[in-house]
Amino acid sequence: MREVSAPWEHGVVLICNNQRPDGSAKPSCGRGAGDGLKAWLKQAAREQDGPVARCRVLTSSCLDVCPADGVAVALMPGNEVLVVDPEADRDALLGRVRAHMAAHASPSEAGGARGAARRVLGRLRGR
Ligand code: FES
Repeated sequence: MREVSAPWEHGVVLICNNQRPDGSAKPSCGRGAGDGLKAWLKQAAREQDGPVARCRVLTSSCLDVCPADGVAVALMPGNEVLVVDPEADRDALLGRVRAHMAAHASPSEAGGARGAARRVLGRLRGR
């Protein structure tokens, strides 16, 4: 084993694309839904300014949430997990990822974005 530098900054977004066989007892997020959401979020994040542009967006196997009505998305660092509609929630997800990555950036990297990130998080959490 050897340690290497992470080729990304600020954090990672894991988007489940697990697809169970038809007739499975447990629902799954779905290959098409997960892959489509990942492709969109990766591009949208890169078009932003600030820490969100330098996060890593990856597909994942099952995150053990297994919603019947959406796709499971984990934001790291931290253990924040969301269930999102892969089409209707795209802009809300981008806002959440933007705030999450800004909140985990160093103060010098976040600059004035930290206060904005907290305001966005507050709105999303209904505070
Ligand atoms: S199938 Fe997506 S979280 Fe389990």
